[in-house]
Amino acid sequence: MQIQQIGFGTYMIPQHLTKECITEALKQNYTYFDCAYLYGNEKQIGEALSEHFQTNDRSKYFISTKLWNTNHTAQRVKNQLEFSLKTLQLEYLDLFLVHWPVPFEPASLKETWQAMEACVDSGLVRFIGVSNYSAKQLSELLSYARIRPYTNQIEVHPFFQNRDLISFCHQNHIHVTAYSPLCGNYDNIPSIAELGEQLEIADMCAKYAKDPAQIVLQWHLQHFPLHYSVVPKTQTIERIGTNRQINFELTKEEMEFIDKLGANERGSDSMKLFGMEVFE
Ligand SMILES: NC(=O)c1ccc[n+]([C@@H]2O[C@H](COP(=O)([O-])OP(=O)(O)OC[C@H]3O[C@@H](n4cnc5c(N)ncnc54)[C@H](OP(=O)(O)O)[C@@H]3O)[C@@H](O)[C@H]2O)c1
Repeated sequence: MQIQQIGFGTYMIPQHLTKECITEALKQNYTYFDCAYLYGNEKQIGEALSEHFQTNDRSKYFISTKLWNTNHTAQRVKNQLEFSLKTLQLEYLDLFLVHWPVPFEPASLKETWQAMEACVDSGLVRFIGVSNYSAKQLSELLSYARIRPYTNQIEVHPFFQNRDLISFCHQNHIHVTAYSPLCGNYDNIPSIAELGEQLEIADMCAKYAKDPAQIVLQWHLQHFPLHYSVVPKTQTIERIGTNRQINFELTKEEMEFIDKLGANERGSDSMKLFGMEVFE
């Protein structure tokens, strides 16, 4: 199974709601699930998946998780893979990502990547990739990679459109997965609900009988119909289905209106998160 255009994000879904949300997402035909060790809900995701796979073909799904920053040494990469497979109740992962180019213990990104390559060699992972890598970090990675990164998962939304990095990835045949596609939950970025209050967006919602999230998801996929995915997160049951119902086309003027919102303001703040600048 290849990666879906609209997958399901799982960050910040509280453990007690996770199984129900994943079960609903499976019912709504999501096949791509974006998970991470850091999110602390792999166990509940695994419970929903394992029930589903009792009567559904595992090979039709694309399950991704991420290596946390504490696990960058070769031995720990292997350990985390085994841990995540066990908690997700899977025999293999479709995609394993380096979550951040930020090793918390002495390990070079090259050593980490080689350990990720070993995960593919072992047959436990189909594809490997990265997240939050800049063009510079990707270039370096490509200089020594035996197995090229399948994807770079990066922040993209109307207020941070990240066009240069998307172009770099596509020129290098690297799929892009947009995280926080609905503007996430950041102090410095308007929420999707606030964006929906803008008159022009409200007009588009009325015209197409869609909500602001659907308008923004359509904007993403209309710009990048190929080699690009979005992973909206919601723990609101009704929104799980509607976030996949994108079956209309925005006009050139409507696309341009959203393009012009781009204040080039990033929500993810690596200085705040890790005390260092990651996005060079
Ligand atoms: N690689 C990384 O470093 C990284 C970083 C951030 C995120 N991610 C991945 O990307 C996924 C998505 O990013 P995100 O969680 O930051 O943000 P997001 O998906 O852009 O936005 C999530 C927010 O939008 C709300 N929402 C969702 N659907 C909506 C709708 N139809 N109408 C109104 N509000 C709606 C959600 O509220 P409710 O849940 O209350 O409905 C939540 O507050 C994550 O879950 C994770 O898988 C990766």
